[in-house]
Order: sequence, then C-alpha cells, then structure tokens
Amino acid sequence: MVQCSLGLQKASAVLYTAANAILAFVMINEKYFEEFPQLKTERLLLRKQELKDAPHLQQMRSNEQVMLYMDSDRHEDIKASEAFIARNLESYEQKTGFFWDITAAETGNYLGDIILRKIDRTNFRAEIGYTLKPDYWGRGYMKEAMRAVISFGFKDLGLHSIEANINPANTTSRELLLKMGFLKEAFFRENYNYNGRFLDTEIYSLLERDFIQQ
Ligand SMILES: CC(C)(COP(=O)(O)OP(=O)(O)OC[C@H]1O[C@@H](n2cnc3c(N)ncnc32)[C@H](O)[C@@H]1OP(=O)(O)O)[C@@H](O)C(=O)NCCC(=O)NCCS
Repeated sequence: MVQCSLGLQKASAVLYTAANAILAFVMINEKYFEEFPQLKTERLLLRKQELKDAPHLQQMRSNEQVMLYMDSDRHEDIKASEAFIARNLESYEQKTGFFWDITAAETGNYLGDIILRKIDRTNFRAEIGYTLKPDYWGRGYMKEAMRAVISFGFKDLGLHSIEANINPANTTSRELLLKMGFLKEAFFRENYNYNGRFLDTEIYSLLERDFIQQ
C-alpha cells in the first residue's frame, strides 16, 4: 500500500513537471525568436540591434556620464562594441534575450538601446536594461521605449514579471522604474564585484497585472 502511494506520488510528480514544461512552452511565445519583434511608438522605432550599429553604441558606451552607474567596462574602441553586439546576437539566437536599438521614427537617428534578457521560461520572467545617449535625456524617450518593450513582454511574449537591477546611486534610473510602476523588491549588500570593489544592488520588479498602460 505504501509502495503504491509512493508510485502514485512519483507519477504525479513526473506529470506535474511535464505539465509545467508544456505550459512554459505554450506561454512563452517562441515565434518572436524566429522573426525579430520590431516595435513602433509615437516617436520611436525599436529595431533589432545589428553589427553595423557598433559606431553608435561605442560613442554612447564610451561616455563617462552614461557609464557612471552601469558598472561595466566602457567601450574604448569599436571592437569592444562589435564583441558586445555579437554576444547580444548570440543570445537572441539562443532564445534568451532581445536587444533593440532605439531610433527616432522620423529620422532614423540612433538614440540608445533597450533589452530584455535572461528570459526565464520556468518563471516567465526577464530582466530589462536600457541606455540613452545624453543628448536625448529628459525628453521622455525612455519611458516611451520601456512602455513598448514591457507591453511586448507581457502581452506578446507571455512574461509574468520583469525585473530591473540598478546601482542604488542611479537615481534617474530608479525614478524611471517607479514611474513605470515597478516596486522595490530587494537590496543586496555588496553582492557584485566590479573592478575590485563590492557594490550594492537594488532589485525592482513589475508584475503583469500591475502594469498600467500610461
Ligand atoms: C536612465 C536613463 C535612460 C533615463 O533617461 P531619462 O531621460 O531620464 O528618461 P526619459 O527618457 O523617460 O525622460 C524622462 C524625463 O523627460 C521629461 N519629459 C520631457 N518631455 C517628455 C515627454 N514628452 N514625455 C514624457 N516625459 C517627458 C520628463 O519630465 C522626465 O523628467 P523628470 O523625471 O525630471 O520629470 C538615462 O539617464 C541613461 O541613459 N542613463 C545612463 C545609462 C543608465 O544608467 N541606464 C540604466 C542602468 S540600470
């Protein structure tokens, strides 16, 4: 009798795991890894980041102001940006991330980038990241781009939650997240070692049901 119930337990565990795997497959819409999702907003066109964008990216990611709280290496030369983009393209091929260029819809000018990465099919979660050229700060472009990417993440891709990790000193980024409806979830003390220093991290998240179309 005991053996029988153990057998049943095992069988139901296997069924549960299989059901979860099927659910994950059904819920994350894999078609966007076949055809890259170009997103349009009132002022912006978010298109797939390509190797040819390396000069723009290098200009932005070599800027001291931009990199102040990014806690990653500045792109000192074009090769660094090409390698960065190649890694992003690889991640898209491996179905773990989306990397968009933010461009002006009218002129095609490069404004910055925005990403959804670490696509987690078990928990239907991903991490958002974003960068704008300083020339375009303070004009609401990132809010507009984020709204489009978050909407895509929830409504089209099938995510349940989106997280953002920031350096606690990055006030502008925090304000942006709060304006988008993100809530603070955690403060990790000295969990990140960068250039020989242990840095703190704040984690923010947004649940699908809390996403308000502003
Ligand atoms: C984080 C970052 C993208 C924020 O940029 P931003 O310009 O502040 O964000 P937005 O484009 O959404 O602009 C919002 C501002 O534009 C203003 N604005 C002007 N016109 C606007 C419009 N038509 N619509 C909305 N907001 C508008 C808003 O008032 C708001 O300013 P406020 O918060 O002082 O009121 C930018 O500072 C950046 O690239 N930093 C360096 C990289 C970085 O740290 N990335 C984050 C890593 S975690």
